[in-house]
Amino acid sequence: EILQQIPEKLLKWYDQNARILPWRENPQPYRVWVSEIMLQQTRVEAVKPYFERFLKALPTVEDLAQAPEEQLLKLWEGLGYYNRVRNLQRGARAVMAEHGGVIPASFEALKKLPGIGDYTAGAIGSIAFQIPVPAVDGNVLRVISRVLYRRDNILDAKVKRRIEGEIKEILPERTGDFNQSLMELGATVCLPNGAPKCNECPLQELCRAHLVGDEESLPVKTKA
Ligand code: ADE
Repeated sequence: EILQQIPEKLLKWYDQNARILPWRENPQPYRVWVSEIMLQQTRVEAVKPYFERFLKALPTVEDLAQAPEEQLLKLWEGLGYYNRVRNLQRGARAVMAEHGGVIPASFEALKKLPGIGDYTAGAIGSIAFQIPVPAVDGNVLRVISRVLYRRDNILDAKVKRRIEGEIKEILPERTGDFNQSLMELGATVCLPNGAPKCNECPLQELCRAHLVGDEESLPVKTKA
């Protein structure tokens, strides 16, 4: 079926086309965590310099747990959504208090940390620990909706859970790379309306939306 053919094609593409990013070079749990929180509402290019500066200033979970709020806000200044960094520190304090300062290598334990939901636990779990869990963000929902020509509303939690379940079924050994390859395709090729670069897409021949020439109507996002 279509889904089963995705991992091999996408990983091959990713090996040739993945952007070189600081947190990919060295995917330690703390680095992946900080990067994923920064990337939640901010583009990769904007995040890069903030990420490097943040890690130089606060190289460990312990440093983050102990940082004065004023320093945190300075390091985050310009990224916006300042609750992200406050929650990040709450998470770091919980890692100190509940996990002896070691970020837990468990999807469930990650999800219990403040500021970490399904997506972030999936990203840290798969990228830093190679745990076989999906990490489905908006980019991934767009890619899957188009490839399978799903016209379900991706804002519906049930629809998202279904796609997470389907991805779980096809996760290859290289889980972290595979999750990142889906995000990467959405961020660089399978772009939102007006911009998809189907001629560069490694999934073009599989893609049902492309076949019917209707990729730009997807994904469907209907507010309740
Ligand atoms: N957006 C969020 N996390 C990402 C990652 N690990 N790679 C690329 N884009 C992302």
